[in-house]
Amino acid sequence: MRTASVYVCQSCGAKTSQFFGRCASCGTWNSLVEQVAHSTDSRRRNGLDPAVEPAARRSMAMASLGDQPVRRLASGYDELDRVLGGGLVPGSMVLVGGDPGIGKSTLLLQSATAMALQHSVLYVSAEESAQQVKLRWLRLEGIASDLQLLAETDLELVLQELEALRPAVAIIDSIQALHDGALSSAPGSVAQVRECAAALQRLAKRQDTALVLVGHVTKEGMLAGPKVLEHLVDAVLTFEGDRFASHRLLRAVKNRFGATHELGVFEMQGKGLAEVGNPSELFLKGESASGVATIVAFEGTRSLVVDLQALVGVTSYASPRRTATGLGTNRLHQILAVLEKHMGLPLSRYDCYLAVAGGLEVEEPAADLGVAAAVVSSYRDLTLPKGTVLLGELGLGGQLRPVGQLAQRLKEAVRLGFHRAVVPRGSGLGPIGEGLELELLEAASVTEALVMALGVDPADDDC
Ligand code: TYD
Ligand code: MG
Repeated sequence: MRTASVYVCQSCGAKTSQFFGRCASCGTWNSLVEQVAHSTDSRRRNGLDPAVEPAARRSMAMASLGDQPVRRLASGYDELDRVLGGGLVPGSMVLVGGDPGIGKSTLLLQSATAMALQHSVLYVSAEESAQQVKLRWLRLEGIASDLQLLAETDLELVLQELEALRPAVAIIDSIQALHDGALSSAPGSVAQVRECAAALQRLAKRQDTALVLVGHVTKEGMLAGPKVLEHLVDAVLTFEGDRFASHRLLRAVKNRFGATHELGVFEMQGKGLAEVGNPSELFLKGESASGVATIVAFEGTRSLVVDLQALVGVTSYASPRRTATGLGTNRLHQILAVLEKHMGLPLSRYDCYLAVAGGLEVEEPAADLGVAAAVVSSYRDLTLPKGTVLLGELGLGGQLRPVGQLAQRLKEAVRLGFHRAVVPRGSGLGPIGEGLELELLEAASVTEALVMALGVDPADDDC
């Protein structure tokens, strides 16, 4: 049973009954968060009271537990299912985060409509009125399914509806807009978001409802939103993309029921989001020019052929400018330093701009050789031959290190018409690589790899 609120310091755990800007106990600023005080006698609960009989044992031997396969509900979209690890798990809670306006509501409304063909689905709109959701639904040319809609911000009423309807899937759009009347803080505050999510989760677990929460990412860095929930939920998906481009990327950053770093690709169209089944075409510009190199990135379980583009020019500043879009700037600095030291290219006197096509983020070191090739190609104004991909991690000594999943990556490159690959020496392709129609050039160092790729020695000033 609920009583009053308490304010708990997130830094030292001290409790007060009143809000202060600074914790009186440890002195930390802005660390007090409102919580609901539960009137449970902790001595009784912990079994310390000798008057209380010890409770029956509840733990059991791991080996005696039966193994049940995880049931999954298909979301209606293959790209979404892939990121979820095969579909929604009953009783689980998934958080979908992303910037405002990126398309979270659209994605979930489409998915809810599709799921409602087979399951009972409740869509709780806490941000938009029922009419607004209906208008969007009409715009999506939604199929006539039995989707239930509730436009409500009061947590208590949402819980009641969930209990009455017992849906297989419930979507809460968004968790920041829900309000628990027992707390005095405003909707969207840390206390509200956490309390609402915890109450929803308790109910969902009890009645085996798969919950999907929408969470906003704020400019100030996720404050009061998804970050608080990340520990609570079973999976965190982020929906991202360039507001000015039409494609959207869905990723899993945490997933208790599947692999993380899985990528789903969608395209925002006039009638909602469409799946992009063949995303390499999005990241491949297919142009052959100086400064362009092609790599194969690996995202989750899928390979993507991606173009990298570099622009290298003499600097007019005291320290050269280096910017990288879709790749860490530190990584670029490191690759430039290796090229300078081991190939004798005076890159510290040159500006360098690097971009990954299509707004993809390439984090893996397997892209190093491609970055080096794009930089050298722009620096020497040489064009890499068409149909070549480059893969390899660059060591600080200029040596090439093997990359994982090479055969799968090359398979995707061959599928898209590539016929030459420069890879680290000693890379085994294994059974997946058998029968690949590909000229495989193995190099031990970055210099050797670039000579092979370009056909001339880029370290030679007369090339
Ligand atoms: P929305 O799903 O409301 O974003 P979020 O819930 O993440 O805030 O998406 C809003 C944007 O998508 C809006 O700018 C309009 C655009 N959009 C389309 O381009 N096509 C469509 O069919 C729909 C429904 C929205
Ligand atoms: Mg929305």
